Amino acid sequence: MKKGYFITFEGAEGSGKSTQIRNAVAFLKKQGYSVLMLREPGGTRISEAIRSILLNKELTEMADVTELLLYLAARAQIVREKILPALKKGKVVICDRFEDSTWAYQGFGRKIPIPAIEQASRLVRGNLKPDLTFVLDVDTTQGLKRGGRHDRIEREALSFHRRVRQGFLTLAKKNPNRMVVLDTGKPLEWVTQKVRERLERVFGK
Ligand code: TMP
Repeated sequence: MKKGYFITFEGAEGSGKSTQIRNAVAFLKKQGYSVLMLREPGGTRISEAIRSILLNKELTEMADVTELLLYLAARAQIVREKILPALKKGKVVICDRFEDSTWAYQGFGRKIPIPAIEQASRLVRGNLKPDLTFVLDVDTTQGLKRGGRHDRIEREALSFHRRVRQGFLTLAKKNPNRMVVLDTGKPLEWVTQKVRERLERVFGK
């Protein structure tokens, strides 16, 4: 039985997730919660090994379906090895990216049919879904400038990254209760404050 709380942060390249995640973890720890911070793909030995294949900029021949299955394989491991056990212990799990990234990047970005992703995803995560997701929305050109274009995904065409951004916004429209979109074109303090307000609503004493 799940009794913890699962929060994810999503967004295109250069959206400033790391800063917001650090703030959120600090806030929740201060409130006395036991917090586990993870990232996807990654967070376990196996998932980190898969990550290094996925982001290797030399592997330009990777087929879209191979990419999808590797992201899902990395997730299958972290769900079983880290996320579910932590939630079972009542922890708050904060993950830098999760399944919404697969919809946005492999679904909207690579145009892999959604029903195919849906079926494989269900095998990977079972009934697990984030309780709350922050989507940090960023202008594509700005984000790529900020994030750099170092790894295999970051080096994709501008049009790919634009589809990813639209993907996140479309997902957020479909899941308004779970997903909170924040415009990172606004000052950093504003974004931080909005994250804080939402966390206070759930965790404030
Ligand atoms: P990041 O940790 O720097 O955000 O790098 C992860 C990269 O992998 C980023 O470009 C987004 C991409 N990604 C996918 O394409 N699909 C996924 O399911 C996940 C989790 C990440």
